[in-house]
Amino acid sequence: MTSFDATADDPTEALAETLKERLAGQETPRLLVVAGSGLGGFARSVDARLTIPYSELPGVGSSTVAGHSGTLVCGRTGNTPLLLMNGRRHLYEGMPAARNTALLRAILLATGVPVVVLSNAAGGLNPTFEVGDLMLISDHINMTFRNPLIGPNRDDWGPRFPDASALYSPRLRVLAREAALKAGVPVREGVYLAGLGPSYETRAEVSMLRTVMGADAVGMSTAPETLAATHMGREVLGISFISNLLTVPAKTTHDEVMENSRRVEEKFTKLVTAFIAELG
Ligand code: HPA
Repeated sequence: MTSFDATADDPTEALAETLKERLAGQETPRLLVVAGSGLGGFARSVDARLTIPYSELPGVGSSTVAGHSGTLVCGRTGNTPLLLMNGRRHLYEGMPAARNTALLRAILLATGVPVVVLSNAAGGLNPTFEVGDLMLISDHINMTFRNPLIGPNRDDWGPRFPDASALYSPRLRVLAREAALKAGVPVREGVYLAGLGPSYETRAEVSMLRTVMGADAVGMSTAPETLAATHMGREVLGISFISNLLTVPAKTTHDEVMENSRRVEEKFTKLVTAFIAELG
């Protein structure tokens, strides 16, 4: 019988070494931004010094989903050096959660970046939400039933049983609210529910997620990344953009999600840029 070794094909450390080599000579980034579905517009606003396609990073592979590009960008927003993951892997693509977050973790290992901004497109469950709203994530409900921390724990990365009572940094949310005010971008705040996808929700699920679980928005990402990043002691800001409303009896399509995300790109870019200035 062969023994089980969940770390045997974990590409994280090899990836971190590759990244150290590729990023040598670049400024130390102050934060990492992960641009979700259709929010790549922020990438165009970054003063890029180096762009690395995921295809050049062993074990990552580019995203298989239309609307998600796959590049790691090293550059600046204003005077702040940062890294941008333009495109991410999703659990519905089939990789285990630990593999799914390998690139994110490798970036954190390689650069020591202390702050991670995660963004996503999400369906609105809160009846007061409108398409195009931006929502600061106050907390999440992980209904993917996957956790990137399953497997042997790397005690040098973080604790076996990490606290999850404040995954989304209250300090960063205060800064984001101040940034939103200064930029004139209204923001909501609420609970993000992560599902596995790739199907959108049934009417019965929508009803349960809202009335039983109290979620404000639902998407297919972010929770695994938040768990991986906070495990490593990093501060996380989460931003959802409401790409469609589940509170109305209409069909949801990926085209609708992508179309609406393009319409919100400018607002999203304004908010993240103002947040980065506030972060200093
Ligand atoms: N449900 C799940 N994920 C999503 C949605 C949705 O309605 N919109 C964008 N991502």
